[in-house]
Amino acid sequence: MARELTQLELLQELQPVAEENLNRHMKIAKNWNPHDYVPWDEGRNFAELGGIDWDPEQSQLDEVAKAAMITNLLTEDNLPSYHREIAHNFSMDDAWGAWVGRWTAEENRHGIVMRDYLVVTRAVDPVALEQARMIHMSNGYSSAAVAQGKAATELPEASMIHSVAYVTFQELATRVSHRNTGRACAEPLADKMLQRIAADENLHMIFYRNICGAAIDLAPDQAMTAVTDVLTNFEMPGAGMPNFRRNGVLMAKHGIYDLRQHLDEVVMPVLRKWNIEDRNDFGAEGEQAREKLMAFLAQLEKDATKFEEMRDRSLAREAAKREKLRAQAS
Ligand SMILES: [Fe+2]
Repeated sequence: MARELTQLELLQELQPVAEENLNRHMKIAKNWNPHDYVPWDEGRNFAELGGIDWDPEQSQLDEVAKAAMITNLLTEDNLPSYHREIAHNFSMDDAWGAWVGRWTAEENRHGIVMRDYLVVTRAVDPVALEQARMIHMSNGYSSAAVAQGKAATELPEASMIHSVAYVTFQELATRVSHRNTGRACAEPLADKMLQRIAADENLHMIFYRNICGAAIDLAPDQAMTAVTDVLTNFEMPGAGMPNFRRNGVLMAKHGIYDLRQHLDEVVMPVLRKWNIEDRNDFGAEGEQAREKLMAFLAQLEKDATKFEEMRDRSLAREAAKREKLRAQAS
């Protein structure tokens, strides 16, 4: 394999691509105000200020919508970790630094608007939400550590290509999850707010996808190896937050984010955009990484189908049980 390009060489070579995509982003990204998506007049004081504290009866959301909102918001809350990571991997120089700052500012809106919406509408327990935020942010996050199956603290030096490949898929996965959460809320303002956030995530994905695409053109074997590493170890950034597994199962079971969506709406569209299956510029190392990825995707297809069959059976069982109870009650 050709000599691996260093972080510095990658950043220098890809700087024009970063500049071009930053300029494109600045032209099309819409500015919006979080306060425009919050029904402030529905807000009431909590007991500390002479009002009443939260009670489950006050929430308009069902268990699935609550689990999805909390998971998506806590994922946004770890922004300082993500900022640290891309600032480290992209540097704060030139177009890279400008992107890091702009991206962080845009992402910050997401946590602000979701928290204000959830607290004002009393959709979730604000005390439990705050406790979960403290735990999750104290744990922090590192994508490269996850991609190599290590703890965040074990990996002082993350690779730029691993990081840009990971955030490409993560931004698209987050877009899908926000959109589906909006639908699950069955509440027009929540849906509008999450559509707004999903539109931002989509533009972020396009920036990272274009940078990673250029990295694959520049160093095919090195980049293909990183893409395979990332996809075969992929975890949503929420892993490690309180109740992540329980909420993750609920979200998968009710179509917020499941294996089928991961494969068909997140992984495959990006791999097609990078022409991974048909490109002919790989050496032995790149070919090997592509083969490993194709084998992994074939297994993921089987797992996704099995998951869908199991889910459909379990939902049918639950529906039959509800029907029986209704018949007995009437
Ligand atoms: Fe976001």
